[in-house]
Amino acid sequence: MITPPVLVLRDVRKSFLIGSDTVSILRGVNVVIPPGDSVAVLGPSGSGKTTLLNIAVGIEDATAGEVELQGRPIHRLRPNERADMRRSCVGFVFQDFRLIDALSVLDNVTVPLRLAGRRVGRLDAMELLDQLGLASRVDQPIDRLSGGERQRVAIARALIGKPALIVCDEPTGNLDRETATRVATVLFSLVRSSGAALIVATHDESLALQCNRILRYNDGLFNQHSESR
Ligand SMILES: Nc1ncnc2c1ncn2[C@@H]1O[C@H](COP(=O)(O)OP(=O)(O)O)[C@@H](O)[C@H]1O
Ligand SMILES: [Mg+2]
Repeated sequence: MITPPVLVLRDVRKSFLIGSDTVSILRGVNVVIPPGDSVAVLGPSGSGKTTLLNIAVGIEDATAGEVELQGRPIHRLRPNERADMRRSCVGFVFQDFRLIDALSVLDNVTVPLRLAGRRVGRLDAMELLDQLGLASRVDQPIDRLSGGERQRVAIARALIGKPALIVCDEPTGNLDRETATRVATVLFSLVRSSGAALIVATHDESLALQCNRILRYNDGLFNQHSESR
């Protein structure tokens, strides 16, 4: 059996009605991401990166076009089916982390999976946190951590369930240069060893260059014609 791509976007379009004006944000995005592949969505603030990521995993609806996640047309699924799919095959690293301040690092990583009824080995979580340089932090509450440490906890939470697709929204956007480089290195190495596909939104050219391909925002459009790498 041929393994389907993890993610397919076919002529995805999105417009918003703002007042009486229709504003087109995405005007025909096409991309196919097989397992193990990595794609950067590179564009300035406001270009539609977050909108694109949300559509890719069914958090938002496209105005037109098709989205297939693990071979299933997510745009045709009901909200609860989409949520099930996200739980089973997507790890999302949100730009603002969305960690739970009152919980420890370890609980932030394991609780979402446990709530979804999946078993999480404490040792697996500890090992992952160790790889991310957080071994000494596992029992700390989130509000004691620095920005770079929080970002790594968010990455651990996204990776722990071994999802087929990792989605990162500006994973280094809130970090200083040195911390950003360290976070990016560990992110790419862990994603590579997991065999997952990666889609990462960024305005950071050097982060984008670490991906296999770039969907670059140009003339109001995201396309990859100019640089298949
Ligand atoms: N729900 C919405 N209603 C109206 N406009 C929106 C909505 N969501 C996003 N936008 C607009 O779409 C554009 C792209 O937003 P976004 O995807 O967040 O860009 P980026 O992540 O690249 O900064 C922005 O101009 C934003 O204001
Ligand atoms: Mg954004």
